[in-house]
Amino acid sequence: MIKFLLIILTAGFSLQQILAMNNEEIERMEVKRFGLLDDGRTVKVYTLKNKIGNSIEILDLGGIIKSINVADHNGEFSDIALGFNNPQQYLTDSPYMGALIGRYANRIAKGKFTIDEVEYSLPVNNFENTLHGGIIGFDKRIWESSASTVDNEAQLELSLISKDGDQGYPGTISTIVTYRFDDQNKLTITYLATTDKTTVINLTNHTYFNLDGHNSGSILDHEVMINASHYTPVDNTLIPTGEIAAVKGTPMDFQTSKPIGRDISIDDPQLSFGLGFDHNWVLNKSDENTINLAATVYSPKTGKFINVYTDQPGIQFYTGNFLDGSIKGKNGTFYNHRNAFCLETQHFPNSPNQHNFPTTELRPGEQYKTTTIFEFGIKK
Ligand code: BGC
Repeated sequence: MIKFLLIILTAGFSLQQILAMNNEEIERMEVKRFGLLDDGRTVKVYTLKNKIGNSIEILDLGGIIKSINVADHNGEFSDIALGFNNPQQYLTDSPYMGALIGRYANRIAKGKFTIDEVEYSLPVNNFENTLHGGIIGFDKRIWESSASTVDNEAQLELSLISKDGDQGYPGTISTIVTYRFDDQNKLTITYLATTDKTTVINLTNHTYFNLDGHNSGSILDHEVMINASHYTPVDNTLIPTGEIAAVKGTPMDFQTSKPIGRDISIDDPQLSFGLGFDHNWVLNKSDENTINLAATVYSPKTGKFINVYTDQPGIQFYTGNFLDGSIKGKNGTFYNHRNAFCLETQHFPNSPNQHNFPTTELRPGEQYKTTTIFEFGIKK
């Protein structure tokens, strides 16, 4: 208890705030100083714990999931999320590892879109396109953070105001993202946003998973099911062509679980554009707002699996094709080609310019609200 008090006092909590926490909170949530950025700002790390001994570390910087510590079929714990030991690396070295992505996850063609006949220009940061919100997206901001325990779950609420014109986007938006971790090993992420001017929005989380452990090499033997009969084919800059294509008979068919490596090297233009899988699948949905199973990934080696549930229309399945061994991550690990996969629940890429895709517009008076659940488990 004394150790915990010291940890949270050094993290900037007042004695009153600490006394207001009940025992349940103290058991399930810990907060510490993760470190300093080069400009002197402090980054905090929250640990969300559950009763079965699993834990998830999340930063107030970018809402970044820094680690996910879960047991395998032998009861051995390992950290299944790639990341860094030093907070500054999340600003300078990171391909969005673990981060919240906003305002617009994925690509917007040529960094331009039009709303109500006004054209907006965004900074271009991925060849000729804008990727993941621009140069200083939500992943690079320190969010306001507040920890609590609600219904026996550790809960971290993060909030951010992004001003009108931030990275070129219209409207001041107010965003709240909540992470909750329960005793069934479900991490629920709820995204809320409102705006004072019509804008576009598409929020996600960009965790790089390796179910055998962040330092375990290739994910090609992981088996993946994606609950989607269609996907959105792309051009050579990874912008959707606008077509909604059937996966059947193509390497994109994950309707029945298969190892990632089975079709990844097939000579196919879509796979060569992405250097592997880096596409948006159109999720099968019973109706627009329900939370359905979107994908399952299973590692035969450790028996670990992840189920992803969402109310979003799409999921970007990315197989770490651009990892090239040049970044030094946690505990000195160099992350190589296809050492991780991402499952980014979202609206389709470039929706602001594709009027046949579900809309990503948010108008004053409306509330953007979406939920994604990552469930971690072991098949015995
Ligand atoms: C994109 C990839 C990109 C990765 C990291 C994914 O969402 O689809 O093309 O390399 O993010 O930036």
